[in-house]
Amino acid sequence: MMNFVFGSQWGDEGKGKIVDYLTEKSDVVLKHHGGANAGHTIYVDNEKYVFHLIPGGILHKDKICVIGNDTVLDMFTLMDELTVLKQKNITYKDRLFIGERAHVTLPYHRLIDVALEIKKGKDAVGTTARGIGPTYADKINRIGITVHDLLDKEILRTKITIANNQAVDIVKKCYDIDNQKIKEILSNFKYLDFTAEEYFDEKTGLNIEKLVDKYYSIGQELKVNIKDITLLMNDYLEKEKKVLAEGSHGILLDINYGTYPFVTSSVCTVGNSFSATGTSPRYLDRSIGIVKGYTTRVGAGPFPTELNDEIGEKLRVKGQEFGATTGRPRRCGWLDLNIIRYSKMLNGMTEIALTKIDILTGMDKLKVCVGYKLKDGSIIKTIPYDLATVTPIYVELDGWEEEISDIREYGALPINLKKYIEFIEKEVGTKVKYISVGANRDQTIIK
Ligand code: GDP
Ligand code: IMO
Ligand code: MG
Repeated sequence: MMNFVFGSQWGDEGKGKIVDYLTEKSDVVLKHHGGANAGHTIYVDNEKYVFHLIPGGILHKDKICVIGNDTVLDMFTLMDELTVLKQKNITYKDRLFIGERAHVTLPYHRLIDVALEIKKGKDAVGTTARGIGPTYADKINRIGITVHDLLDKEILRTKITIANNQAVDIVKKCYDIDNQKIKEILSNFKYLDFTAEEYFDEKTGLNIEKLVDKYYSIGQELKVNIKDITLLMNDYLEKEKKVLAEGSHGILLDINYGTYPFVTSSVCTVGNSFSATGTSPRYLDRSIGIVKGYTTRVGAGPFPTELNDEIGEKLRVKGQEFGATTGRPRRCGWLDLNIIRYSKMLNGMTEIALTKIDILTGMDKLKVCVGYKLKDGSIIKTIPYDLATVTPIYVELDGWEEEISDIREYGALPINLKKYIEFIEKEVGTKVKYISVGANRDQTIIK
C-alpha cells in the first residue's frame, strides 16, 4: 500500500522531518516530482542534513528510496548529496533507485530560468533559479534529456545540441541576454568540478562537448542506480511493501491547482505519485497533510494572512524561516484554514501532522483565518481563482506560555494549545494525528 505525505501550504511545512519520522514504519520512500528547488531539513542526533533530491528516508539505512519518473534532476546537486552520504558512511548503491524516465536539468535550463526572471522584472515569480520550469518545458516540448539518455553518449550529444542551442537562442534573442551576461549568470551556479569560464562557449553559450562528457560520466557512475522503477514499484506494492510517497512541495505551488503563475512547474497532488511511478491509485491508504502551525511562503504571489509587522518578523526569527535551498527570508503569516481545507479536498487528506507548533509558544493571542470575504461581500471557505482580492476573516484564540519542546504526551500539552489543535480539527474536519514540537526526530507526539 502507499501512504502519501504532503505539504498542505506553500512549502517548508517540515516535510523532511515528518518523512524521516514516518520512514521507520515504511519499506520504501518515494520522491515523485520536483527537483533541486525542494529543500528538506532533517536533524538526526543533532546532525543537520538538507536534501533536495534524495528522499529523506535515505537516513534509515535499511530502507529503499526511489526517485520517480516525474522528477527533474540536477545531477550536480544529486552528486553533492551522494558525496555527503559517502562521507557519513551511509550506503546507497543497492537501495537508491532513480527512474530512467526522469528528466535531467542542465545548466542551460538554469540559464533560461534566470534570464526569464530578469525579463519579467517586477512580475517575476521568484523562482529558486534551479531550472525547474525550463526542464519541465523541454520535457513537454519533447526535447528533454532523460536519465536513460545519460547512458548513451551519441544520443546525449544529439539531444543536448538541440536543446542547448534552442535555449541559448531564446535567451539571447527574446530575453536580451548577451555573452557577457551569460558568463555572469553561469558563474553564479554551483558546480561540482568546473567553472563558468571553462564551460562557456562564444558561439553555443555552453560548451556542448564538455557537457556531453560530464553528463555521460555521471551516467556511468549512476548506472547501477538507474532503473525501470515502474517494474520495481509495482513489484513492491504487489508484495504488500509499505511505500511512503513524499510530495516535494506545498500543494499551493501545484502547477494546476496552486496560485498560478506563482507556482512551481510540477504536479504536487497525490494522484501524481501514481502517475510518476506507473502504479495504480487503488494502492492508496493514508494521505497525511503536513500543516505548519502558521503559514510561510517563499517567492512572489498572493498571501492573504501575511504579516508585514513585528509578529511576522518574530515568527521568521524564532522559526528560522529562511529558505533551505536559497536562504531567502520566508514571508510569514497566520494559519489559514481555507488553504488546509483546499489541500484536503485535492489530496483526500485522512489525517494531519501539525508542525512547528513550538514556535507559537509565548504569543499572547493567535489569529486563525477561517474564511474569506470576496469583493461582492460573499463569504467562502476555500481557495478562489483570484486569491489576491480576498479579505481574511479571523478568529482569535488564546496563546500559551509553557515550553513544549520536551513534552512527548498529548495530555501534557498546555490547555490552550489543545484548544488550538481542536479548533483546527473542527474547522477542517480532519483529526490531527502527529504533533511536532521540535526539529528532531524524537520531538514528535502521537495523538
Ligand atoms: P520542508 O521543505 O517541508 O522539508 O521543510 P524545511 O526543511 O524547508 O523547513 C522546515 C524547518 O523547520 C527545518 O529547519 C526543520 O528542521 C524545522 N522543523 C521541522 N519541524 C519542526 C518543529 O516541529 N519545530 C521546530 N522548531 N522546527 C521544525
Ligand atoms: P520545499 O520542498 C518553498 C517556490 C519558489 C517560487 C516558486 C517557483 O522546501 O517545500 P521554482 O524554482 O520551483 O520554479 O520556483 O515555487 N518554491 C518553493 N517554496 N519551498 C519549496 O520547496 C519550494 N519549491 C519551489 O520560491 O516562488
Ligand atoms: Mg523546504
